[in-house]
Amino acid sequence: MRRKIIAGNWKMNKTAKEAVDLVAGLKNQLKNIQDVDIVVCPPFTALTEVVKVIQGTNIQLGAQNTYWEDAGAFTGEVSCVMLKELGCAYIIVGHSERRQYFGETNETVNKKAKAVLSHKLTPIICIGERLEEREQNKTFEVLKDHIENGLKGITGEEAKKIIIAYEPVWAIGTGKTATPQQAQEAHSFIRGLLKELYDKETSEVIRIQYGGSVKPDNISELMAQPDLDGALVGGASLKLDSFVKIVEGSK
Ligand code: 13P
Repeated sequence: MRRKIIAGNWKMNKTAKEAVDLVAGLKNQLKNIQDVDIVVCPPFTALTEVVKVIQGTNIQLGAQNTYWEDAGAFTGEVSCVMLKELGCAYIIVGHSERRQYFGETNETVNKKAKAVLSHKLTPIICIGERLEEREQNKTFEVLKDHIENGLKGITGEEAKKIIIAYEPVWAIGTGKTATPQQAQEAHSFIRGLLKELYDKETSEVIRIQYGGSVKPDNISELMAQPDLDGALVGGASLKLDSFVKIVEGSK
């Protein structure tokens, strides 16, 4: 039985002060949740403050990006070593916004995922098709490309620790959620790919989150699907009330 994991990807939202206010509320309202992993991924600038608030609670910390080298002349970048020291347990890799606006490719996603694993942190590797790709019936082809190339060289033992986030690009920030059936179809396809790449046991351990317009009123039906193991939540994770309801509704 895979444990559900709900992560809030705050994207470029919340100053450090605003982030502390939100996470203090989450800490209070989610303190009795025991059977779901809860993660918040604030911007880099809020990590040091947020970690102080969540210490010793059931909320874990994640970052939204990393570079694959540990240190060096890479102006503007942040490494896994730095993020680990701050208390991050998870790092999002290859979000579609990074692929779209910042030139991330399967190759850079792969380097980042391996770097995260080498520091014994958990990468949340994002994959998913764009609208035109779905309309051209290329969804499975894109998912295969993202999985096979994004996970290249990652061993079976390492793979057991990763999290995949299936985020159809057309559902992100649009209010247009994938139906539970569409999501399940993609997740089951992804699990099949993982089985081919590794083995059945490994494919059944890896958690696959769904992301794209997840809200309090659609979380339960999405989580009822057998291959949906959690959610990566954008907009609805920025408000206390809706993120709390999503975590509660995911059980
Ligand atoms: P929304 O929940 O705002 O659609 O964003 C999803 C997402 O991109 C999470 O990483």
